[in-house]
Amino acid sequence: MAMASAYAPGGAGSRALGRIRARGPAGVGFVGLGPRPSSKAGVRALALPGRGAITVAVGGGGSSSSSSCRSRLRCAASSSSAAARSISQPRFIQHKKEAFWFYRFLSIVYDHVINPGHWTEDMRDDALEPAELYSRKLKVVDVGGGTGFTTLGVIKHVDPENVTLLDQSPHQLEKARQKEALKGVTIMEGDAEDLPFPTDTFDRYVSAGSIEYWPDPQRGIKESYRVLRIGGVACMIGPVYPTFWLSRFFADMWMLFPTEEEYIEWFKQAGFKDVKLKRIGPKWYRGVRRHGLIMGCSVTGVKREHGDSPLQLGPKAEDVSKPVNPITFLFRFLMGTICAAYYVLVPIYMWIKDQIVPKGMPI
Ligand SMILES: C[S@@+](CC[C@H](N)C(=O)[O-])C[C@H]1O[C@@H](n2cnc3c(N)ncnc32)[C@H](O)[C@@H]1O
Repeated sequence: MAMASAYAPGGAGSRALGRIRARGPAGVGFVGLGPRPSSKAGVRALALPGRGAITVAVGGGGSSSSSSCRSRLRCAASSSSAAARSISQPRFIQHKKEAFWFYRFLSIVYDHVINPGHWTEDMRDDALEPAELYSRKLKVVDVGGGTGFTTLGVIKHVDPENVTLLDQSPHQLEKARQKEALKGVTIMEGDAEDLPFPTDTFDRYVSAGSIEYWPDPQRGIKESYRVLRIGGVACMIGPVYPTFWLSRFFADMWMLFPTEEEYIEWFKQAGFKDVKLKRIGPKWYRGVRRHGLIMGCSVTGVKREHGDSPLQLGPKAEDVSKPVNPITFLFRFLMGTICAAYYVLVPIYMWIKDQIVPKGMPI
């Protein structure tokens, strides 16, 4: 079901994109749950009758797109990125070493505690749909694949022998190895920002809920471009930035919650064409996005040329071989973990609201 929307949540960049969308013919699109604007903080809770597929063309990418729209998008996206976050936001767990230790412990309960609140099977199917997994012969890599929850969604459509699951956490991978259904999948350790695969290897690149831990997300997306074959599709599923002040505070303390505009900008910068964003969320949120979402969107882009990404980047943001001060590390780790606990409570709070507020009403 397709439904047009002029609204994109977030700050100034969102509004700018909204304006661009009204003009743009093709290229970048938004597809998904559609919130309405609100009087408060720019976003209001929204109850949609169903999952509206919202496609918003804002230019840039397709050969048919206009250059004026393309440059407008770049301006809007850059300024929104700059305005949306400052370098000084702590994001205590947005580093490889911190993420490693975070998942050292979280892997024990990950499948039982995290996924039911934030990343359900129906959300997963919804998010993977734009990846166009139409053939069992497609060669697919799931980056930051963790315990294999998303990989289980991939192998519904693709033969396990054609699928590679990569993660930096041996503890998460151990859980994946224990899953009978994943037998046949290649499971390996690796870094999303430095993938151990030759250029032009895969037909599909999938990554769900991992980008928020990457110290340099643009580098990870550039890598997704490099390892895809021509015509290949990258599908990045990840959080979206909250607008409610308390949620924003805890989000900024914990990890990276990109804005929708940032995802689109990163994809375009990496060289992807036909960039689209589909909004996703747990059913019981009724479309509410003001608290941010751990899994809030599925962004896709197509690689139209052979070889590496045209984007040139400097040295990596994090050098994992460099020693860190253990006191600073422990402080950051504990603070990050405490702030993450807020996001265990949010889905419970939303579930209670969903139970109390009559159906069809906004919550
Ligand atoms: C929220 S889990 C998502 C797991 C899985 N994709 C899913 O859908 O359930 C995030 C995963 O990203 C992994 N991760 C974080 N930073 C990474 C990096 N730089 N390279 C590879 N994996 C990374 C973590 O180890 C963790 O398993």
